[in-house]
Amino acid sequence: LDLHFTNAESTPEERAAVDEFLGPALVRDAHVARGGHAAREQRHMLLPALHALSRRIGWISEGGLNHLCRRLDVPPADAFGVASFYGLFSTKPRPKKTLHVCDDIVCALGAGARLCADLERSAGPSGEEVRNEGWTWQRSPCLGLCEHGSAALLTVAGAQALEHQIAPATLENVTEALAGESPELKLRHYKTPASGGESRRLLRRVGRVNPESLDAYLEAGGYAALRRALEIGASGVVREVIDSKLMGRGGAAFPTGRKWEAVAKESARPHLLVCNADESEPGTFKDRILMEEDPFAIVEAMTIAAFAGSCEKGYVYVRGEYPLALARMTNAIEIAREKGLLGDNILQRGFAFDIEVRRGAGAYICGEETALFNSIEGYRGEPRNKPPFPVQRGLFGKPTIVNNVETLVNVLDIVLEGGEAFRKTGTAESTGTKLFCVSGDVVKPGLHEVPFGMTLRALIDRAGGVRGKAVQAVLLGGAAGTFMAPGELDTPLSFEGARAASATLGSGVVIVFNESADLKAAVLRIAKFFREESCGQCVPCRVGTVRQEELLHRLAGETPTFARGAPSELELLAEIGQVMRDASICGLGQTASSAIESALAKFAVFGGAVKA
Ligand SMILES: Cc1cc2nc3c(=O)[nH]c(=O)nc-3n(C[C@H](O)[C@H](O)[C@H](O)COP(=O)(O)O)c2cc1C
Ligand code: SF4
Ligand code: FES
Repeated sequence: LDLHFTNAESTPEERAAVDEFLGPALVRDAHVARGGHAAREQRHMLLPALHALSRRIGWISEGGLNHLCRRLDVPPADAFGVASFYGLFSTKPRPKKTLHVCDDIVCALGAGARLCADLERSAGPSGEEVRNEGWTWQRSPCLGLCEHGSAALLTVAGAQALEHQIAPATLENVTEALAGESPELKLRHYKTPASGGESRRLLRRVGRVNPESLDAYLEAGGYAALRRALEIGASGVVREVIDSKLMGRGGAAFPTGRKWEAVAKESARPHLLVCNADESEPGTFKDRILMEEDPFAIVEAMTIAAFAGSCEKGYVYVRGEYPLALARMTNAIEIAREKGLLGDNILQRGFAFDIEVRRGAGAYICGEETALFNSIEGYRGEPRNKPPFPVQRGLFGKPTIVNNVETLVNVLDIVLEGGEAFRKTGTAESTGTKLFCVSGDVVKPGLHEVPFGMTLRALIDRAGGVRGKAVQAVLLGGAAGTFMAPGELDTPLSFEGARAASATLGSGVVIVFNESADLKAAVLRIAKFFREESCGQCVPCRVGTVRQEELLHRLAGETPTFARGAPSELELLAEIGQVMRDASICGLGQTASSAIESALAKFAVFGGAVKA
């Protein structure tokens, strides 16, 4: 590698941050002593090392980056491209304390909008250091705490770095958190309303079984599924999962059993497993609750998936804004390893598998499976062209199973009860139960587990009904989903039911807007989200998301409109949407216009429907 360093020097604190994380520098770390192969082997440490630097210093300086790049044999320009890709990192000087405040769709309906306005008044504009107080605040996309109506994440850099989720967030409690000394700030546990009554399967342990104790998990029936899996063998597990008709819960609804079967058949080795816990779709918080409240179930389910697909190693990629989930998953993995439930000889049955935790750093696109692989490998989280599909060439170019957290947790019941029993719940094409993240203008926002096929109306009733007089609209499937009109509330919540209504369940988002909610603001926020989160790799999405947002601001009358007026603006918007759908590399660009177009078509938000 041809490494070009700038003259910027690292500080002792920056060197300590990197060296404590990577271990002492060896003579062989010197660039001249290493071949390309050895250098490539270290590249996957780039993202965790950037986290180490950022958590210690608060930002990533040129000098700090130079030191890190020398240690990992990564060209600094390349590493800068990675560091500047992620929302949680800053490559400009930043104080040690940063308060990330959600201004996304749900919080904008609730107290979140007020909090941003209060902060702007009392602390100044987002992104600027608060004079003489050593902290800064910045607006953030959804923090995955939507059921609370307002949310913040405080990051405190230093030798004892901390992250602190605050929800609901108010000016009082964020001020209190900012005033606290770092070591005293702790991860705070809060209760989340979770309902489901008779249909509680995935949530049966949530809020009832201590998530930090393996003994509690075992007492609640934990690890019976893994024992059963080892009895029926890998092909038996794959057969049951195919039989269950389990479809992926990460948004794409791909049959899980087929994926596992394909990887199991691949001759290339090793096989790898990735649990996608990057949950960043605005309005989604289900995987967070599963990780926080039932982490051993995820570890057990990953072990079963690995056994079925002959995977030797697994990664769980946890969203960077989820410190409690990260801590709970790390704890569960460590305990499972100590007790022989991970490692070289699991349950003394000669099966070897282990899991590594990787932390995202604030990029929605890293939930896309191939972007996630690039992120783990130490590159910018840009999606790859498919084919080849992950089952053939996935993480590190190896056959890889990638599954969503919720998908995996379903596997425990499938293995225990059999695929046939599992598919008795739900509908013909959508088997089992589904976790819906219900938020916005409902009486009881929270995570609701229901059998597939329940209507949208019944689900909203289950969440206590609408807060306010009447429903104006429901956003189904998140920013990448569809706005539903009051006349569509009898749509069955199943993959086929949503498809028939030209909608998508996505990751299970249900955001309710009552008659006084500002739909125009929600549409503009969605456009901003896609413009900010586009990885910029392909033109239709990079340019289309910018043009789409600009056009909506013109329609909203905030910027001058072209003389040709609203009708041709709407034609242009439809064209932009079509190009993004047809020509974008990945699902982000392909869905960046769907919610917006549905809002304009069904509610005439800006006074006219999109022309198809
Ligand atoms: C822009 C984008 C974001 C995504 N984000 C997530 C995510 O946060 N979590 C997830 O499980 N899947 C996400 N996916 C879907 C994954 O690419 C992949 O289909 C999924 O992880 C496969 O697991 P499943 O079959 O269990 O659903 C995303 C896809 C796209 C296009
Ligand atoms: S569609 Fe958007 S997010 Fe996806 S690869 Fe292209 S630019 Fe990146
Ligand atoms: S946490 Fe604010 S919208 Fe999700």
